Amino acid sequence: MDIPSRLAHLFSEQFRRTPDRLARAPGRVNLLGEHVDYNGGFVLPAAIDRATYVAFSPDGSDKVSVGAVDFGQSADFSTRSLKTKMQVNRSPLPGWAEYPAGVAWSLSEHGQMVRGMQALFASDVPRGAGLSSSASVELAFAVSWMALGGWSLPPMELALCCQRAENQYVGVRCGIMDQFASACGEKDRLLLLDCRSLEYRTLPLPEGVDIIIADTTVRHAHASGAYNDRRAACEEAVRLLQQHLPGIQSLRDVSLEDFDRLAATLPPLIEKRARHVVEEIDRTLRAVSLLEAGDVQGFGRAMNACHASLRDLYEVSCPEADEMVRIAQSLAGCYGARLTGGGFGGCTVNLVERKYTQQFVEDLGVAYASDTGLHPEIYVCSASAGAGLL
Ligand code: GLA
Repeated sequence: MDIPSRLAHLFSEQFRRTPDRLARAPGRVNLLGEHVDYNGGFVLPAAIDRATYVAFSPDGSDKVSVGAVDFGQSADFSTRSLKTKMQVNRSPLPGWAEYPAGVAWSLSEHGQMVRGMQALFASDVPRGAGLSSSASVELAFAVSWMALGGWSLPPMELALCCQRAENQYVGVRCGIMDQFASACGEKDRLLLLDCRSLEYRTLPLPEGVDIIIADTTVRHAHASGAYNDRRAACEEAVRLLQQHLPGIQSLRDVSLEDFDRLAATLPPLIEKRARHVVEEIDRTLRAVSLLEAGDVQGFGRAMNACHASLRDLYEVSCPEADEMVRIAQSLAGCYGARLTGGGFGGCTVNLVERKYTQQFVEDLGVAYASDTGLHPEIYVCSASAGAGLL
């Protein structure tokens, strides 16, 4: 049974009524532009064909009852006391429920009507895998409340509300890329977002090429703390560089030449972190031009360089992801391979010439399993539409 049918069935069992509507919001894979969104840089993600689904009906009161099918747990909260992070019986909200509650909080702060509802949700976006499972949960609930409240916001506004939920309610200082991709995804298109102006345009997927996602199956605890640390290092770099370049507001404003000239003035660790960002912003723009000129090989080389930089300068990779990327890069038909998303485990993204896809998937799986003893999930993904009602 697919997820929407399963949810509808479970909803009827749990709430003794059929759900009014179903919302869907996809995860995303990022091709290039990693850890640059919160530095005002450029990112190149696509929404993927894996998503979070919410089945929902209005409750008629201010109470939100949510069941998380994938956790086998339920929670409830009142739309009148969202700030407390408490359930109706005053026990604390479980961690997973902070995502819907945070979205409700953020939407009401934004002046949108958030009604009580009964809801069940489930997802096939793997959790903690660098494919934005959190953003997909946030967007799926945001779309549900939009439908229930009878108001409407442009997708980018919804994305910003969801980012604020994660920043200020859940406490992860993520950038805008994930919520943007989940909200604004388009079938068969890549999305090029300027994270400063929030302007974006879409690009076709390169012809004859597959995007293959491979899950290392490794997940690291404390990843969100390490993520916030990286962000703080970038802010420190900006603060220090402002002494020489008073006009800059973020690392986006620092040219490669200025950075090279001033690098020695920074503490070594801050220099490494900032170098990744400055180079990755430049690399992404250059690689997009290559892609548009039909140079998939050149684009793939930029992906490989991005991985090396995430591993050596930004230090968000792990031995298993390095191994998976090393194997992928040695296989026939692979243009580029790298860690995707926030890092500290999770998935790699691989650009592979279509005629080699099957062989690539097989060989990568076998070699990775024999080197690490882990059994990865590897699949071809297609770019999908953004969040909406079904
Ligand atoms: C996570 C964050 C994004 C982005 C990536 C790294 O997915 O949610 O905002 O910073 O990491 O590129």
